[in-house]
Amino acid sequence: MAFLLLLVATAIGTARTQSTTSACDYKWITQPIDHFGDTNGTFQQRYSVFDDFYQPGGPIMFFQGEESWYLDCANTTIMYEYAKQLDGLAVSLEHRYFGQSLPYGQDSHAPSNMKYLTLDNVMADAVSFISHIKETNEGAAESKAIVASGSYGGFLAAAFRLNHPDTLFGALASAGPIKSFSNSSDPDTYNWWRWINRVYLDRSQEASYKIRNAFVVLQDRLASTDIASLKGELNLCSSPSVNDTAGNIQLISILTNTFSFAAELNYPTVQPGRSPIANSLDKFIDVVLEEQDPIQILNRTFWTWFGTPGDSHASCLNHTDPNFFNKAVPLIETEPFHYITCTYCPLASSNIPNGTIFLPSPTASDSTPQYCQQTYGVTPMSQEDIFERYHFSPAEIRKSTRIIWSNAEYDPTSAVSVDYLPVPSDVCASRMILTSDMAHREDLFMPDASDRKTVTELRNKEMQIFKEWLEFCP
Ligand SMILES: *[C@@H]1O[C@H](CO)[C@@H](O)[C@H](O)[C@H]1NC(C)=O
Ligand SMILES: *[C@@H]1O[C@H](CO)[C@@H](O)[C@H](O)[C@H]1NC(C)=O
Ligand SMILES: *[C@@H]1O[C@H](CO)[C@@H](O)[C@H](O)[C@H]1NC(C)=O
Ligand SMILES: *[C@@H]1O[C@H](CO)[C@@H](O)[C@H](O)[C@H]1NC(C)=O
Ligand SMILES: *[C@@H]1O[C@H](CO)[C@@H](O)[C@H](O)[C@H]1NC(C)=O
Ligand SMILES: *[C@@H]1O[C@H](CO)[C@@H](O)[C@H](O)[C@H]1NC(C)=O
Ligand SMILES: *[C@@H]1O[C@H](CO)[C@@H](O)[C@H](O)[C@H]1NC(C)=O
Repeated sequence: MAFLLLLVATAIGTARTQSTTSACDYKWITQPIDHFGDTNGTFQQRYSVFDDFYQPGGPIMFFQGEESWYLDCANTTIMYEYAKQLDGLAVSLEHRYFGQSLPYGQDSHAPSNMKYLTLDNVMADAVSFISHIKETNEGAAESKAIVASGSYGGFLAAAFRLNHPDTLFGALASAGPIKSFSNSSDPDTYNWWRWINRVYLDRSQEASYKIRNAFVVLQDRLASTDIASLKGELNLCSSPSVNDTAGNIQLISILTNTFSFAAELNYPTVQPGRSPIANSLDKFIDVVLEEQDPIQILNRTFWTWFGTPGDSHASCLNHTDPNFFNKAVPLIETEPFHYITCTYCPLASSNIPNGTIFLPSPTASDSTPQYCQQTYGVTPMSQEDIFERYHFSPAEIRKSTRIIWSNAEYDPTSAVSVDYLPVPSDVCASRMILTSDMAHREDLFMPDASDRKTVTELRNKEMQIFKEWLEFCP
């Protein structure tokens, strides 16, 4: 998921981390715990606002917080840069139930307290937040709001525009999954791993076939008498056992998912909380081409990621710990995010279909109905329900206006995002842009000297589209 990171399937639980966050002059807005009147309580929701470049009437460039432990200060997101060029306000809003925006304080993640973590409430928070910004900034009453966010947040940005078009004038949905919700009969639902497969084949067919062989060898070893020595070869915390089916499946899953992250999060610099190493895809390919021992291919790629000092560092691979893989993307606040994957965003990114370089794994969804019932007493929505209730059907997305779907070459989320928009006939139509040499939601980061050329060009294009929307779209 790491939805971001969509891949949280095997990881049910919570891993708090002390991610370094930059200083920010946060503010607070009072919001109803339920915008629809089921309870009278209120809570404090955190936000940030910058009027450094603002001219009265300028647009509100709104970064919606993602599923993380902290709110990105608006001046650390691309919206600050866009506000600079558009004389706009740059604002960001923390997602309810995440970070410090907690309806029930420290008890917010108790299953019975999560019931107001609904998409309708998340959207209503944004609507009342935008009203608040308009009221508290002189000359902003008629300002147009453009929302941006990434990954699961990209799904939100699109949902805001599709469901509250009067409040949100436009949306930048970067790496937003909008299909691949659980248990769909459409085979394209399970394209996530096909995309990763293609990313590796594009880089090196030789390396891809060595990866495929490595997993076949691992699978054989796990069923053989030569299993215990895997502890030393992979630096496991404990010896695997032929009879520990769940642990062995999890071992394969952890080693496999590391290849997904290396592609998805292939940034040119370290991104704290997301990727502990820079250029992970190249590093993985180099290790695989150089190493001849199949098990060492898996050992060395895994430790290239987890051996690096930082939040995801581990001293040994604990394949019996169901929460182990949460370490991979420590900025995700897993507890409320699992609730979301059990309700209105039940992704299906862990299904590995036949025919890739990875071992097949035919799961229907990242969250199982049994787990969701037992833990929260809820049932994940079906893809059909989500499409209908929140206007995400292909037909409604095709006729939508002013949404940029920004997808990236290395990012498997592209496989579960929009791929069927008609060629836009006017500047106000929604459009999908697929950017080469780019990783997951990379366009939303602040510009940096290490940026790849294609990412810089994409940001220029997004800026141009915003200008045209503001000038030419009614
Ligand atoms: C962002 O703004 C805060 C004040 O709200 C400031 O302390 C911080 O240094 C700024 N960060 C950057 C990257 O400019
Ligand atoms: C909310 O407050 C009003 C007025 O005090 C009261 O009539 C109503 O019953 C309350 N609703 C709930 C759900 O507590
Ligand atoms: C596994 O990989 C790590 C990191 O590359 C390396 O230090 C270690 O020696 C490898 N284990 C074996 C048994 O070769
Ligand atoms: C695995 O299970 C089988 C059948 O129950 C048993 O005979 C065997 O001793 C077990 N092996 C280990 C290593 O526990
Ligand atoms: C591995 O995880 C299991 C299950 O969470 C735990 O009981 C065990 O102590 C862990 N082992 C190590 C070495 O951390
Ligand atoms: C995948 O391959 C296996 C083994 O060849 C086969 O039994 C299974 O039906 C295949 N699944 C799909 C969805 O094609
Ligand atoms: C898929 O749908 C079937 C039929 O509605 C249901 O029985 C099953 O539990 C669902 N599985 C998942 C993983 O959602």
